[in-house]
Amino acid sequence: MDADKWRIVNQAGKKRVIVTKELPGDRWLEILVSAGCRIEIFSSPETLSVKDILKAIGSGCDGAIGQLTESWGNELFSALKSAGGKVYSNYAVGFNNIDIASAISCGVPVGNTPGVLTETTAEMAVALTFAAARRVGESERYLRAGKYKGWLPDLFLGELLWRRTVGVIGAGRIGTAYGRMMMEGHRMSILYFDPNTNHALEKYAQDYSKFLANHNEMPVTCRKTETVEELLSASDVVSIHTVLDETTRHLINAGRLALMNKNAVLVNTSRGPVIDEAALVDHCRQNPDFRAGLDVFEEEPALKPGLKDLENVVIVPHIASATGWTRRGMAILAACNVAALLMGYPVWNRNDITPFLDADPPKAAPSILNADDLGLNCY
Ligand code: DGY
Repeated sequence: MDADKWRIVNQAGKKRVIVTKELPGDRWLEILVSAGCRIEIFSSPETLSVKDILKAIGSGCDGAIGQLTESWGNELFSALKSAGGKVYSNYAVGFNNIDIASAISCGVPVGNTPGVLTETTAEMAVALTFAAARRVGESERYLRAGKYKGWLPDLFLGELLWRRTVGVIGAGRIGTAYGRMMMEGHRMSILYFDPNTNHALEKYAQDYSKFLANHNEMPVTCRKTETVEELLSASDVVSIHTVLDETTRHLINAGRLALMNKNAVLVNTSRGPVIDEAALVDHCRQNPDFRAGLDVFEEEPALKPGLKDLENVVIVPHIASATGWTRRGMAILAACNVAALLMGYPVWNRNDITPFLDADPPKAAPSILNADDLGLNCY
């Protein structure tokens, strides 16, 4: 880990914050500078190992912003604490790369960046849904290969999704936004599988159905299923939006894939290990009319053998949140998490985080995952 790969901003700042990758925009830097921080940024695309990060933390470090590609566990949190660290923020909404229990036992508050990825990620799930259903990747490759010799009645027949059923696994912010896009845009009825009843989504579907009735259109429905099996066997499209933890690892396995319609579409923009990727490769091989759209992979950046050769799978490299607005917003939220804890501010206690994107953000930390466990004050 060469020292010359670290860029320093505000050399004279009294609070040392390390950031393990360059982040988009400048606003996040301004926020940290206003909080009196000297910011040290690892300016290379390489992924830092735990050993590299330990070295970067050193003996004096007030805070850190890290990435979903790093593993933040006991070793890093105790090193950060011993170095005087008061806060860590993930530059991500997902936090499966963090051992929260270790952070709690070391007394380190852990932030994440919800609320600015919602529509962006949902839009990518929609894009993958239609790219898969309408065979966009496969037909583009055919065209580029010079194989197109003229219009044919049966060239690349795909699936019409209008008024069919979409299954949403994990009906949190992103799953809800995706479900609404599919319902409002394509009149799809929703089944969802989630530990909680999503009353807001169900009510929205009822109100939307009234609106449709006023326009002489058929209603849509929205219902929670008791089991994931029920959702899989009754849906034409299944989109995964759950967190990754021990209850969701390989939630979609060979047995459950077998329950899905032969011509269903499976989309994943959450975390790769929710799907048993080797089982999916087998399933797509055996069922050429089954299609998948994947943004995330089980052993990212590696793909399971055979995946990239399948014509019925659309794959993109974990870019569901990749819009300038979202990635700048994530940087702002991560910086606000760190700056707030270093300034002794409380933790924001509302769902809407958009005030943090304003010129004068609230004097609070937008999202601290272990705030209750650590007894932090709320705003
Ligand atoms: C997240 O924030 O968890 C996303 O996966 C980043 O795209």
